[in-house]
Amino acid sequence: MRSLFEECVLGPLTLRNRFVKAATFEGRTPKGAVTDELIAFHRTVAAGGVAMTTMAYLAVSPEGRVDRNCLLLNEASQEGLRRLTDAVHQEGAKICAQIGHAGPVANGRSNHAPVLAPKSGYSAMGAKLTAVTKQDLDRIVDDYGKGAKIAADAGFDCIEIHMGHNYLISSLLSPKLNNRKDEFGGSLENRARFGRAVAKQVREAVGPTIAVTAKLNMDDGVKGGFGVIEAAKVAKMLENDGSIDAIELTGGSSLSNPMYLFRGDAPRKEFAATLPGPVKIGFKVFGRFFIKEYPYTEAYFIDQARVILNELTIPVILLGGITRPETAQSALDEGFSFFALGRPLLMEPGIVNRWESGDNAPSGCTHCNKCMPTIYTGTECVLNGGPLSFASTD
Ligand SMILES: Cc1cc2nc3c(=O)[nH]c(=O)nc-3n(C[C@H](O)[C@H](O)[C@H](O)COP(=O)(O)O)c2cc1C
Repeated sequence: MRSLFEECVLGPLTLRNRFVKAATFEGRTPKGAVTDELIAFHRTVAAGGVAMTTMAYLAVSPEGRVDRNCLLLNEASQEGLRRLTDAVHQEGAKICAQIGHAGPVANGRSNHAPVLAPKSGYSAMGAKLTAVTKQDLDRIVDDYGKGAKIAADAGFDCIEIHMGHNYLISSLLSPKLNNRKDEFGGSLENRARFGRAVAKQVREAVGPTIAVTAKLNMDDGVKGGFGVIEAAKVAKMLENDGSIDAIELTGGSSLSNPMYLFRGDAPRKEFAATLPGPVKIGFKVFGRFFIKEYPYTEAYFIDQARVILNELTIPVILLGGITRPETAQSALDEGFSFFALGRPLLMEPGIVNRWESGDNAPSGCTHCNKCMPTIYTGTECVLNGGPLSFASTD
């Protein structure tokens, strides 16, 4: 029987166990700079026993930042990133960089840049969208390669390509958001062209000693959007291309259905509090349409993930609502290889060490989701004493 706590292989990496920290935007890079608080956050998670932590959302292009407080991968950010990766390695863990281009999810006003999307128009949040050109896409593929190389040179062990949540790659995959008539629209082959080109470029840029993974949507959770049947085909294309070592499966749309990803309580009041005046009023009236509510169940993505697992030979990373070691063990027994935890690690960074010691009590996370709006001020669990649990261990 495979064990959750045995050493195991992910591409070129040997991981100390099967638990990884899922990307949760840290809110600790004001104006895109690495801070001591960011380093302390990941150091604490690494010390808590995960095999690999993931820094969330490093943008490959200036207009691909979610907003101006998102780190841009360039020469200037490399030194700070090196301090981060060194600190994590000192705790015996690996570190992964989630890299991406936000596409239609970007805040153009904050970035002082156009919001690039498959087609022009307005997003569900009212942002003006500019249709991305073939020249833009070629340049962004190149940016992915350069960004991945910068991350690898800064000491990251793994590059996770964000292919979910209706960020640029995911928006092009979506038949609802992408009605292009060129080679990037129409058939699934066409809609997957950009994501596949990105994965190939990243693999080429970092070479065989760095792991490359994709975080792929299985279902946008939106009528007419990308779904699991197409996702299984895209996952297979990526596997056949030989560009990725493993795949992490996710769902939902940051544009039009974020709660499909989180399940549980919808923190509408807390979200409204983070918004500027007029938007806040609109949100109070219409927020229930944007932030729907889905019941939370343990391992809530597992049924869709099984469909994809059945198609692949590369390792599959299960994500979403894993709060008990027994859940991970039974998923391991049926073929999943790694387990990504988000909110349980925000609440209890040492949960993997605790489970390994034999204390199998589940995560105390109540999926109140009040951690979500804290991404603007420093991501934290509001139940666990907040930022103090991430105080520097130095
Ligand atoms: C506060 C917060 C921030 C998040 N930021 C990101 C992000 O930057 N990129 C991403 O791919 N997923 C992000 N996620 C989603 C998580 O990676 C994960 O998919 C989700 O929380 C479900 O896993 P869980 O049930 O273990 O929390 C975020 C989640 C939370 C709670």
